[in-house]
Amino acid sequence: MSTFTLTRQLPEDATYAALRADVWTGLTAHPKWLPPKWFYDARGSELFEEITRLPEYYPARAERAVLCRESSAIAAETGARTLVELGSGSSEKTRLLIDALRAAGTLTDYVPVDVSGSALQRAGRVLHADYPGLTVHALVADFTVRLDLPPTAGPRLVAFLGSTIGNLLPTERAAFLSSLRATLRPGDALLLGTDLVKDEQLLVAAYNDASGVTADFNKNVLAVVHRELGADFDPDDFDHVAVWNREQEWIEMRLRARTALTGTIPAVGLAVRFAEGEELRTEVSAKFREPGLRSELADAGLKLTHWWTDSEGRFALSLAQPDS
Ligand code: AVJ
Repeated sequence: MSTFTLTRQLPEDATYAALRADVWTGLTAHPKWLPPKWFYDARGSELFEEITRLPEYYPARAERAVLCRESSAIAAETGARTLVELGSGSSEKTRLLIDALRAAGTLTDYVPVDVSGSALQRAGRVLHADYPGLTVHALVADFTVRLDLPPTAGPRLVAFLGSTIGNLLPTERAAFLSSLRATLRPGDALLLGTDLVKDEQLLVAAYNDASGVTADFNKNVLAVVHRELGADFDPDDFDHVAVWNREQEWIEMRLRARTALTGTIPAVGLAVRFAEGEELRTEVSAKFREPGLRSELADAGLKLTHWWTDSEGRFALSLAQPDS
């Protein structure tokens, strides 16, 4: 018997409260910043899908190539009966994993986890219809805060793809990996997608494409704070900026004020002043190297067992398991 269930571990108003708190904290800070998770309303998710098709944005294609090549090895290695996917949306890549695990004859349960209930409804129902016999437990949760997995069969494979882990700052990453480790049991595994350090020009181009889709994606966060909190910033008053931070080995996206300006945000009772040229950091996208990732995983009690990259060495998939 196969079923589709959707469980909400986040209160309906949690997202609104979190956005208000983040906007307050980030826009009163020096320098100003906002967490990248607020890009992804319906329009932002659409723009990100468009980004994955840009010639400059290699990570999506590179990860897909590795997954295509290695999915049956991953299935054989893990023998997973449950596939957990953190931050779904990448349902095309999910299918590669599901197909391989079904071909191996082990997969019975799929647990997509996302903060967006509507995205889960859509993706979950389609997969449920396409894979007879697969039980889908969609989970609305913020997995960076806590992750309570349903009691499905083990071994479980937790997939965190797309290099989304790079959006977390190093301390957030350490906390996330430790809490994930705490929910894993012996025999479970983590499949992690990470973009790799490479030539600066290639990196910057991936976040500053010629057709301006990434600029629209970046400015979309202003549309979100307008719609949700009544903010009156004009996106045309800002320039899209992407820079490579050599010390931290991450890409930063910023919005730079073209002139001195003040925006009001009624829902948090703020008037926010930008000086001419002042920047708001909207995203950090960390790039990785094998030794560094291996040691971050080890610090969280996870042993890196496999490291696969695309033929050009741009992107890696790692498999890691609890170390005891
Ligand atoms: C979905 C977070 C992996 O950091 O590359 C794409 C988002 N930002 N272009 C990334 C993004 C700008 C993307 N992640």
